Amino acid sequence: MQEKLNEIRALALKRIQESDTPEKLKEIQIAVLGKKGELTSIMKTLKDVSPEDRPKVGQMINDARAEIEKNLEEASKKMQEQVRNARLKAEVIDVTLPAKKPVIGHRHPNTIALEEVERIFVGLGYEITEGPEIEKDYYNFEALNIPADHPAKDEQDTFYINGEMLLRTQTSSTQIHAMEQGKPPIRILAPGRVFRADEVDATHSPSFHQIEGLVVDKNITFADLKGTLAQFAKELFGEDTKVKFRPHHFPFTEPSAEMDVSCFKCGGKGCRFCKGSGWIEILGCGMVHPKVLERCNIDTNEYTGFAFGVGLERIALLKYEIDDMRLLYENDARFLDQF
Ligand code: DAH
Repeated sequence: MQEKLNEIRALALKRIQESDTPEKLKEIQIAVLGKKGELTSIMKTLKDVSPEDRPKVGQMINDARAEIEKNLEEASKKMQEQVRNARLKAEVIDVTLPAKKPVIGHRHPNTIALEEVERIFVGLGYEITEGPEIEKDYYNFEALNIPADHPAKDEQDTFYINGEMLLRTQTSSTQIHAMEQGKPPIRILAPGRVFRADEVDATHSPSFHQIEGLVVDKNITFADLKGTLAQFAKELFGEDTKVKFRPHHFPFTEPSAEMDVSCFKCGGKGCRFCKGSGWIEILGCGMVHPKVLERCNIDTNEYTGFAFGVGLERIALLKYEIDDMRLLYENDARFLDQF
């Protein structure tokens, strides 16, 4: 009996030692200590032992049981620790590895250019406003002193929605809204999308953007217009930028002009960028025509004003030296990623 007990004990301890999974430990536990286990069976034969030896043998069985249980528990603990260590090792983060660059979006060149222009004029005290893209003929043409038979209406091939409504061809329509909604002094900058029935090419698109400016106040003269737009050109293209005003015609301004800036690429000597002239045309401008002011119930004896209109794409193309407007609309990520 004693021999049998020692055998069971030794074998169990050896098997525990050799176990490498929690499942194997469980098997040993059942096989040795379980209801029908080896040690349990031997316990049942205790009744066959002589009464005087019984307590001693009983004690021996209990000791064996305790020892096996202790070994099982220790083996199981060790195993859990090994599993944990292996997992920690596998999950270890190498902080010296180069980081993956997150893919983030880029601002569109139009957006960057617009924000730059807005920043300049906000700094001069202008308020940013907007007007509708779908307009009445009145706001796009008539109120701007462009009557039905005016050739300017043909120049700007208009998308009509019906006899009265159209997609605005110019942000100049926002001038009328500003003067109807507010009283002078008015100082607004109104960016927005405009539409013209143009074929797509390197410099044309049926939809593009303009930025309109309008100032109406007492004692506003052409000198204010020149000073403001010269300052704008310097801030946008650099401190050395010179401006030149060429007489022009717009129905809603009198006198009217186009403003050129000295080529910021060659400084005015003439290069491929300015087509050899040293100058780059940038915007249209002029003193608000009295008829336009009158239509908006502004007293022309008291008030005068100036206005200007800039092509946003033109600014973006110039600033980033992009030579084809189509690139701005194709949304090719390889192109946009550069900004
Ligand atoms: N609306 C004109 C155009 O689309 C641009 C323009 C010229 C706007 C002169 C103005 C201005 O405000 O005074 O060609």
